Amino acid sequence: MCGIVGYVGGRPALDVVIEGLARLEYRGYDSAGIAVLAEGGLATAKRAGKLVNLRGALEDEPLPAGTLGMGHTRWATHGAPNDRNAHPHVDCTGSVAVIHNGIIENFAALRGELEEAGHKLGSDTDTEAVAHLLEDELKAGGGLAAAMRRVCRRLEGAFTLVAVHTGDPDLVVGARRNSPLVVGVGDGENFLASDVAAFIAHTRDAIELGQDQIVELRPGGVTVTGFDGRPAEVKEYHVDWDVSAAEKDGHDYFMLKEIAEQPRAVADTLLGRIGADGRLTLDEMRISDQELREVDKIIIVACGTSFHAGLIAKYAIEHWAGLPCEVELASEFRYRDAILSPTTLVIAISQSGETMDALMAVRHAREQKAKLLGICNVNGSTLPRECDGVLYTHAGPEIAVASTKAFLTQLVAVYLIALYIAQVRGTKWGDEVFAMVQLLERMPEKVEKVLETMEPVRELARSLAGERCVLFLGRHVGFPVALEGALKLKELAYMHAEGFAAGELKHGPIALIEQGLPVVVIVPPRARDVLHDKIVSNIQEIRARGARTIVIAEEGDRSVEPYADTLIGVPAVPTLLQPLVTTVPLQVFACELATAKGHDVDQPRNLAKSVTVE
Ligand code: M6R
Repeated sequence: MCGIVGYVGGRPALDVVIEGLARLEYRGYDSAGIAVLAEGGLATAKRAGKLVNLRGALEDEPLPAGTLGMGHTRWATHGAPNDRNAHPHVDCTGSVAVIHNGIIENFAALRGELEEAGHKLGSDTDTEAVAHLLEDELKAGGGLAAAMRRVCRRLEGAFTLVAVHTGDPDLVVGARRNSPLVVGVGDGENFLASDVAAFIAHTRDAIELGQDQIVELRPGGVTVTGFDGRPAEVKEYHVDWDVSAAEKDGHDYFMLKEIAEQPRAVADTLLGRIGADGRLTLDEMRISDQELREVDKIIIVACGTSFHAGLIAKYAIEHWAGLPCEVELASEFRYRDAILSPTTLVIAISQSGETMDALMAVRHAREQKAKLLGICNVNGSTLPRECDGVLYTHAGPEIAVASTKAFLTQLVAVYLIALYIAQVRGTKWGDEVFAMVQLLERMPEKVEKVLETMEPVRELARSLAGERCVLFLGRHVGFPVALEGALKLKELAYMHAEGFAAGELKHGPIALIEQGLPVVVIVPPRARDVLHDKIVSNIQEIRARGARTIVIAEEGDRSVEPYADTLIGVPAVPTLLQPLVTTVPLQVFACELATAKGHDVDQPRNLAKSVTVE
């Protein structure tokens, strides 16, 4: 939620910041704003809506040139998404500007106090209080960083703040608690951003900031201290992808590019994890084999698409590793009395590693002394630091709000973990694990094959653009795939879409079936005969009631042909791996249908890529 960019160096700050914001717009697009420190003082511009509106405003009324600046792209929490509430916010004197990501929970009390003291607040945001608090603290002396430290100690909630002050025109100050902020280290210039994508065109050397830290950015250096003023230890790292990874590469949308990248992404998740002897090696997991042998229960916590990966993980873990596994929405987890102990392994799945619900679930599990393993895509994010171990998915940057390649790589990661636990605990013979690993290694080619046959799916999607509702049915691992197909359609096409376990139809949802209603059914492989035959019966039941059946089944499955109005074939793979091939047509379907409706699939309404509020 919200993208933040800060810059100080020798180039025109306006250009650097706007370019950075363009790369961060996926984080929020309710409004955009910029502040530049120039000779004449502090200049700001902000506009409701996407970055294009701000660009237009800057063309009409250019800001003075300066080499220090910051910018913000907003996902609104407090206050409507209008010009007034857009960031930056300034103090009463117009000499301090602040941008913010997160929620300041005690803002109402702070705001009341400020108003009583005579400050004039011009927005409905929680952020503006910080600008006025800084105004007061600057009077107490010590400069902007010291003022920010004192202010942060008064704030409750999650926040990344960046501030500039006319009194120190070479300095950008950032503060971080529970929201992402990374530093880009350049040569005579330095950067701050919510995500490395903002500065990757300029430097690939980055610094990960920890909790409750303040960073001071000057052209010649970076200083990091704690909220208590003590020097802080920081972790430097090198970003291993380049600017082309954060660009559309000839595709109309990032989502299309990311769907197309899936064979490569799946292959990258497997890379380096299979030893020459066929045994899995997950060294970076940092949880010892002995600790894994002691685990007696697994709980998976995640949100949205990552939650669907977790639901599929349950089948793999129980089948291969023989351990009981629960899957819980991260946002619900800490509000029930889950039974955890030091022998419980909690696996948190999050593409961004910044989802606040997932982080809070991890902290809750930590308090109960459980072992914590993260599955994450973004290096340098918060989740891996809060877990005992991590398995990175190596999907590369996922920019489109709708998650695609992250999902497939999360599946590969959970398969690897389940098989690794099976290997360590001996619940499967070594050759059984190896056989499955070999099948996994063939999955990039299977996903590629699915992608090559998507034209009929695109045609179908266009033909359904006028529909109001689509249902998705699945069984076993096909059920989470149905949920994922429905989620994609909801978030991109703004259509009513529901995923159901096909066996549950008769307990209520079948009442929804009416003449012509499109129902997508994911059919398990023929090898799973009972499961397969049951869903074929389900297809007949809904078709008899008028549904328009869109059936996804393995190639050559003739048994479904008589009941499928549209048949989409996918390569034959083992049941547990089938989500890797059955999800892809659903991604393409949702993307095409939404495009046909004229929607921006990279930036669906009301959403943001990283949900850093609870
Ligand atoms: O970064 P995370 O994996 O923690 O994000 C979780 C969800 O917010 C995310 O998967 C969301 O549901 C996607 N927009 C779905 O496409």
